Amino acid sequence: MSIIERALNKAKDEKPKSDDSTNSVTGTQFDLNGQVNSPIPPPIIKLQGAVEKEKLLDTRQISVIDWDKLAELSFVTPSSNTHSQAEEEYRNIKRPLINNAFGVGSVGINRSNLILVTSSVPGEGKTFTAINLALSIANERDKKVLLIDADVARPSVAKTLGIKATPGLVEYLEGNDIEFSDIVQKTNMPGLSVIPAGKQHKHSTELLNSNKMIVLAQELSNRYPDRIVIFDSPPLLAATQGEVLAGLVGQVVLVVEAEKTPQSMIMSSVNKLMFCDVVLVLLNKIQSNADADHYGYGLYGN
Ligand SMILES: Nc1ncnc2c1ncn2[C@@H]1O[C@H](COP(=O)(O)OP(=O)(O)OP(=O)(O)O)[C@@H](O)[C@H]1O
Ligand SMILES: [Mg+2]
Repeated sequence: MSIIERALNKAKDEKPKSDDSTNSVTGTQFDLNGQVNSPIPPPIIKLQGAVEKEKLLDTRQISVIDWDKLAELSFVTPSSNTHSQAEEEYRNIKRPLINNAFGVGSVGINRSNLILVTSSVPGEGKTFTAINLALSIANERDKKVLLIDADVARPSVAKTLGIKATPGLVEYLEGNDIEFSDIVQKTNMPGLSVIPAGKQHKHSTELLNSNKMIVLAQELSNRYPDRIVIFDSPPLLAATQGEVLAGLVGQVVLVVEAEKTPQSMIMSSVNKLMFCDVVLVLLNKIQSNADADHYGYGLYGN
């Protein structure tokens, strides 16, 4: 039994299971589903002054994603072979997330269309996973995705995609004079919009913890229930922002670097996420024997 399996089994034993079978992901290897009571009270949402729906996502220009660069970095791009191993793996990874967001699985999950991608420590593959998931979901014709770089201390989404890095989430949370539509970049991939992290800010933790961030998360869920919103986040054990963000979303993907992240760290992360409605564990960078150049991704659990 691998470290991950042992960790997950232990977490399963310790965690109360939901009675609501519609809330669990079936037919997948995801684990740690089920509902637990959140110690974070539901936010008091004030929608007064909220911008019109059309205006909220009315973007002014198209940002062009550097597909060649992404392909070089092993990302799943629209021109990737649809039968490639990576494509196939991301198809399996996104399916339960989409079912939880929109299908019968969404019953009982608060803000089910908001997904946080996090990990225990830096470098496990959060940004890689968040971008690949966003691209893979947006590649489906009827799906829309908003990818938000919420790793405001060490942002990398804009740089990786080759798009404008500011203004972003920080500027929106910081000021009253910046509209939501000012920070959303529509891209040359139909269905994919991106909000970069924005400028560096010494009080970024407080900004992510602010009432404005809570209202934003609630509005994205209420007003765009047909859109998947993916947040790239800071690592859970390095700072408090990841945990704060986990309290705002319906689903959390915990990325674990295969053969590297110690079990104790995984357990610490799992404990920090106990209050979340859905936590899915993604084992990343599995070295495939068949193809030494390919890093795999696996979903572990039952
Ligand atoms: N499955 C994978 N296959 C190939 N390369 C990968 C994979 N996962 C991650 N990488 C590469 O590993 C490096 C670290 O990944 P990434 O930047 O996504 O980690 P991170 O968790 O976001 O790190 P940080 O905490 O610093 O933000 C990057 O160069 C990324 O392209
Ligand atoms: Mg990152």
